[in-house]
Order: sequence, then C-alpha cells, then structure tokens
Amino acid sequence: MLIKVLGSAAGGGFPQWNCNCRNCADVRRGASGFTARTQSSLAVSSNGRDWVLLNASPDLRQQINATPALGSQASGELRNSPIKAAVLTNGDVDHISGLINLREMQPFLVYGSGRVLSVLSSNSIFKILNAEMVQRRELGLDAPVQLMGPGGDLGLTIEAFAVPGKVALYLEDTSKGADFGTVEGDTIGLKITAPESDKTFYYIPGCADVDARLSDRIRGAALVFFDGTLFTDDEMVKAGLMPKTGKRMGHISMSGSDGSIAAFASLGVERKVYVHINNSNPVLDENSPQRKEAEDAGWEIGYDGMEISL
Ligand code: MLT
Ligand code: MN
Ligand code: ZN
Repeated sequence: MLIKVLGSAAGGGFPQWNCNCRNCADVRRGASGFTARTQSSLAVSSNGRDWVLLNASPDLRQQINATPALGSQASGELRNSPIKAAVLTNGDVDHISGLINLREMQPFLVYGSGRVLSVLSSNSIFKILNAEMVQRRELGLDAPVQLMGPGGDLGLTIEAFAVPGKVALYLEDTSKGADFGTVEGDTIGLKITAPESDKTFYYIPGCADVDARLSDRIRGAALVFFDGTLFTDDEMVKAGLMPKTGKRMGHISMSGSDGSIAAFASLGVERKVYVHINNSNPVLDENSPQRKEAEDAGWEIGYDGMEISL
C-alpha cells in the first residue's frame, strides 16, 4: 500500500493568503527551517496505479500537478485519471471543496457519511460532478467496506468511525448550545486496510479528544496520521489571530496534559504523523523547541510530498 501526503496544512494552508503571522511571514520570505504546505489531503493506492483521495482540498489541482502518479497518464486514453475515488472525513471547506476540481465528466466514486453527503446534495454547485459519472456512496460507521472505483475493486477496505469533533464551521447552529448541533459522525476517522498485504493505517485529520474509545481503536497501530492543527489550545488567541481556542474549533492540541502528545505516549503506535497543521503552529519552524518536543516524543511532522509504503 502506498500513501502520499498531498497537503499537510490545515484550512488556509501555509502561508495563508491573508496572514502576516510570524510563521506565514517567515515562510513567505523563504526563511530557513520553513516549508510551504497546501491544504489537508492524502492519497492512497494498493497497486500504485489506481488512487483514492482521502479528502479533496481546495489545493487539489496544484496537488495533482505536483504528483505525476495522480495526473492524466500518457499511456492512457484521451481523457483518463488515476483518481478512482474520494473519501471525505467531514464537511469542512478544506476537505470537500476540491471536489469541484474533479469536474469534466470523469467517472469516480465519492464516499462520505450521510451528513457529509447531505452537504454535497444541498449545495447545488456540487451538481457540477455529473451524477451519471460520479456516484456518491454513504459510509456507515464501524462497518468496513470494500472501496470501489468505476472499474471495480480498488484493493482497499475502509472503515469509518466517529471521533470527538464538531460540525463544519459554516453549519454551526448557535441556538443548539455548546456543540453547535454536532451529531455523531460529523467528524470521522478512517481505518484503511489493504487486504492483500494485511497492512492497515489510520487517518484522523480532525479530532477534538483522544478518548478511551479512540485509544482502544488505535493502540498498537503501525501508522496513524493525526490532527496536528495547534500546538497549544490558545495559540491563535495569544497571537491575536482570532478569538477561538482549539477546543472551540473541535481540534485537540499537541501539547499539555490533555494534548495528543500525552495521549499517544502509552498507545504504542509505531509511526505517528501530524497532518492538518495550522499556520500558527510553532512546529512548522524546524528549529523551534516545540518541533523538538514533538519529534522527541516520536512524532513526525507531515509535509507535502511525504510518501510512506506499508
Ligand atoms: C477546521 O479544520 O477547523 C476547519 O477547516 C476550519 C475552517 O473551515 O476554516
Ligand atoms: Mn480543517
Ligand atoms: Zn499565519
């Protein structure tokens, strides 16, 4: 199984178009120790030919052009794409809006929870993906399914599971109290398995808390890609970027006694990679003490173009 990190940044990317925070200013001027990043997406393949997108970011066109395996193949037909399916983990702009890049009458399948598929069906712009070409399939929770492309079985099984989180920002209903009308499954994690090699990894780009249920699920895993949005819960507030904490945004932080570094410390996960990293996060500075703290705890900081073979 081959995995490519297409985009390792959170919503907004790195640098973010309107942001002059220290990290964004430093990466924009090419300071050493900083690397630009596009928005949150992975690609996975069981055979190196047929690919599945895990989330479709607004930067997808750029990501495809930076990744020859995902572009139209010279050996193929006049119109061809190795992208056979896309699986969505929530309704966030950074995770679904890239679907619009995949118009032009190319067949593929879109998988998502019922709630995420309802976002697609209630926004008419997604009709640009012609329903005769692009089938939408609902993913149930805790039920492994064989991923299918237009030409059949893609050699991967995927199991969606609910993780603590929050409904997408633009769907927040402030009349519904502290959870803004979030329902179970608004944010999912994915367990992806290649049955032929019996290799498995987890993809959890948005998560508010590593609770007992999630800990039990991922304990001893070979590889987990995990929500690396913020280092400290109030880092965006302290930097004057916005008044929201990570908890308010549905994201666990890396540091602290209730952070992901501490939560994973006893889980025995062999390889742990942060993705969905916000531009405010000090780990984006390769020379920062926070970067060292994460790496000393065994974490890798995901980057665009990172490839892992399982
Ligand atoms: C998030 O991950 O919290 C969202 O992508 C935020 C947003 O939609 O801007
Ligand atoms: Mn996001
Ligand atoms: Zn910034």
